[in-house]
Amino acid sequence: MGKLLVTGGAGFIGSNFVHLVMDNTDDTVIVLDKMGYAGNESSLVGLPANRFTLVVGDVCDRELVDRLVAKVDTVVHFAAESHNDNSLDDPEPFIMTNLYGTFALLEAVRAHDKRYHHISTDEVYGDLEIGSSERFCETTPYRPSSPYSSSKAGSDHLVRSWVRSFEIRATLSNCSNNYGPRQHVEKFIPRQITNVIDGIRPKLYGQGLNVRDWIHVDDHNSAVLRILEAGVIGETYLIGADGEKNNRSVIESILFQMGQPTDAYDHVTNRPGHDMRYAIDATKLRTELGWEPVHSNFEIGLASTIEWYRTNESWWRKQKKFVEVRYATREQ
Ligand code: NAD
Ligand code: DAU
Repeated sequence: MGKLLVTGGAGFIGSNFVHLVMDNTDDTVIVLDKMGYAGNESSLVGLPANRFTLVVGDVCDRELVDRLVAKVDTVVHFAAESHNDNSLDDPEPFIMTNLYGTFALLEAVRAHDKRYHHISTDEVYGDLEIGSSERFCETTPYRPSSPYSSSKAGSDHLVRSWVRSFEIRATLSNCSNNYGPRQHVEKFIPRQITNVIDGIRPKLYGQGLNVRDWIHVDDHNSAVLRILEAGVIGETYLIGADGEKNNRSVIESILFQMGQPTDAYDHVTNRPGHDMRYAIDATKLRTELGWEPVHSNFEIGLASTIEWYRTNESWWRKQKKFVEVRYATREQ
């Protein structure tokens, strides 16, 4: 891959991706991140200074984006406003970053003829019925539910149209729910782990029967590396590791592993428009590119994630209070 531009590389998945690239290749990486509330510079501590640069800036800044894209061989675009609940409070930053930011990158990639990989989500496909055997695949029609997922859906369409009309060298991936180290404490699993550490009861939206298809962040990122190595230009790959669980069972696992009674949680106000179930069929990625997840035991991955939040309190402590104050305005 040579020189990479990784947008959103100070966020959860992007920072884990940068560590994976540093540990497993000789590539050099420029991270472009605006260091918004979800960007955390300490996620990038310890990277080799001769192979890594952090540029603080906005993917919507076309001049900056053009200058950085010109310097690299490959762009991996993780940067996004990523949290559904925030998109329901205030959709505008989602439209700006997820749509206009992607547009800015595509124009720079087109101008400089660079390889581009677009990181997206399974939420573009809407939701599935609880209990059905249906799963999302690459041909599932788009049916996004929230401002977040519709802005990501729009960004996917932009990428495909730039491939077809301008012949840019792009691939796309849509992944299910990630968990692991360095995830912002606004998200479900780290929120509940840090709640238990703080002696706060975990919070379950509604009845908690909604299903998410959990994948360890390192498995997501190993799939992205595989697509960069062997993916076919213009193609989309769904990334998932057969990790379906309902939210209630995840909270019970967290409580059990942290030595608490498994019913010591509260039901709170449900998310408006809350998607019921996501499930990924990753057959194309597995058969065409030979990718396999390695962290397929969720309870083991969860145990190491709990351990990471226990031993890295300084990483999340500053954000926790602000996040819980914001949640308190939404929840009863
Ligand atoms: P995150 O919120 O943890 O990180 C996003 C990063 O992007 C942050 O560092 C933030 O500062 C940066 N950013 C936001 N707006 C920016 C802008 N305008 N310019 C530059 N940087 C900006 O999100 P994440 O969970 O790591 O998600 C990364 C990508 O993966 C997103 O595109 C998301 O849609 C996708 N995705 C996430 C999941 C998941 O479970 N978290 C699953 C599938 C796909
Ligand atoms: O499916 C991929 C998507 O997964 C990504 O595209 C998003 O960026 C990522 O945030 C995630 O979206 P979700 O909305 O599924 O994740 P979240 O962590 O917000 O919530 C997971 C589930 O847990 C969801 O059903 C809502 C529920 N929930 C969430 C929180 C924060 C609770 O029950 N209680 C909570 O406190």
